[in-house]
Amino acid sequence: MSTPYDSVDYPGHAYADTHPRSLGAVGRLFGLAPAASSACRTLEIGCGDGANLVAMAYALPRSEFVGIDLSARAIAKGMDLAKSVDASNVRLLEADLMAIDPDTLGPFDYVVAHGFYSWVPSPVRDRLMEVISRCLAPAGIAFVSYNAYPGFYLRQMLREMLLLHTRAADSPQEAIAGARALAEYLAIGGEGDGLERRILRAEAERVLAKHDGPLFHDDLSPVNAPVWFHEFVSEAARHDLAHLADAGAEAFGSRALPAEILEMLQSLDRLTREQYRDFFLCRRFRRSLLVRRDALATAKEHLRGFDDLRLACFAIRSEAHGETRYAHRSGATLSTRDRRISGIMDALLEAWPDTLGIAELLARAGENFQADETLADRLQFARGVLAEALGLGVVSAVSEAPLVATRAGALPRASLFARRQLAQGPEVTNLWHETVSLDDAFAARLFALLDGTRSRERLASELHDAWAGPGEELAPAIDHHLEHIARLALLHA
Ligand SMILES: C[S@@+](CC[C@H](N)C(=O)[O-])C[C@H]1O[C@@H](n2cnc3c(N)ncnc32)[C@H](O)[C@@H]1O
Repeated sequence: MSTPYDSVDYPGHAYADTHPRSLGAVGRLFGLAPAASSACRTLEIGCGDGANLVAMAYALPRSEFVGIDLSARAIAKGMDLAKSVDASNVRLLEADLMAIDPDTLGPFDYVVAHGFYSWVPSPVRDRLMEVISRCLAPAGIAFVSYNAYPGFYLRQMLREMLLLHTRAADSPQEAIAGARALAEYLAIGGEGDGLERRILRAEAERVLAKHDGPLFHDDLSPVNAPVWFHEFVSEAARHDLAHLADAGAEAFGSRALPAEILEMLQSLDRLTREQYRDFFLCRRFRRSLLVRRDALATAKEHLRGFDDLRLACFAIRSEAHGETRYAHRSGATLSTRDRRISGIMDALLEAWPDTLGIAELLARAGENFQADETLADRLQFARGVLAEALGLGVVSAVSEAPLVATRAGALPRASLFARRQLAQGPEVTNLWHETVSLDDAFAARLFALLDGTRSRERLASELHDAWAGPGEELAPAIDHHLEHIARLALLHA
């Protein structure tokens, strides 16, 4: 059976917060005992072209991965990708979630359904919960993302106009062209535009910036089912699943709200509080983590310390007017005048792309503290700083450090997965399971050669023709780019 995903591709990406290392970190934070990412079983439902799952399988060769998707074309692409990086620990199945027998596949320590729940009809959503419930190991964690109210109402306004405008289109290509044409008009601003017009214009601009695949499958798909958080939680509960937290920075209580709102939220129970946070944040998308109802009983409502997590930071550091600023690629920033805080952040930056535990972190940042501050005081202070930085998304926490080189060695070996991706374009997945860009043409040529067999001398001789600058600057340029490639977490340890 042909599906819309067979006629228009939906190019996948690596979603760092779906990685077992990140899911495991949130589990540990709440006092659960999730499986180690280095030896786990992960299922991805609606895995598309495998860009997320195959990248995980490549970097975690001792773990096992299964992906299912209805689209033959997407699965064939994923299988080619897996073959091209010799990932024999991933199985991609062309299958309908409605028809598979979950008992023959499970159990799984991690189940991921990214961009699936709101994109499928109601019976498939119900089946998703059932399959998760039947497949999830006792200490397992499932990641389910979905469009959420109230924020999705803003999207819905434009979506319904686009659907109306393109209802007579004969092909996906005609529908995409029609949607773009209407969005172009809607994006035209006028002086004195009121709030509604400005919101609509911003939405139109968002749609225009999209590639065809996401535009067609997200904005023009006949099914798009946003839900309120409380509805999602009730549906999960019908299948004995419970909400643990949301993924990534959200788990650490991100997105600061004004103090009076936070105080009001404190008077609510945990799930009501989560729902009300969506009101205040006008949230439109959620990435919720589900666990078995009985596992939640052992979880702690309040976050523990970060003692058994690995911490990392990859940000741009700048200083101005006595303030040090750390800007993450996501746009999140942390600014401080406190030397103890910058000491902690600098130690993490220095260690990147490796991680530090909180004790190592304090040992490295120790000179910024007063001599009479006890270890207990320092720990308490560091936990507070980290909670804020994690919540902002400037610092990341994982259950285990990825195997990544901090410097280029004598025979640098870059991720084969990223080298394969580079043939298609500059966006590649690094060993932190993030998308990074290698848009410098010389760096890209160098990168393609980093298979672990070439010394710097050999690299220089093979890159001679690609180098436009003076001959004596080639070797320093190679060193410079190797350093940059290592900072992008693209080299194997
Ligand atoms: C919006 S795409 C998301 C793909 C990928 N997870 C991502 O986020 O990039 C939804 C995917 O779900 C798949 N899908 C839809 N209904 C399905 C079903 N009943 N069984 C299995 N896969 C299905 C589609 O083929 C498509 O690849």
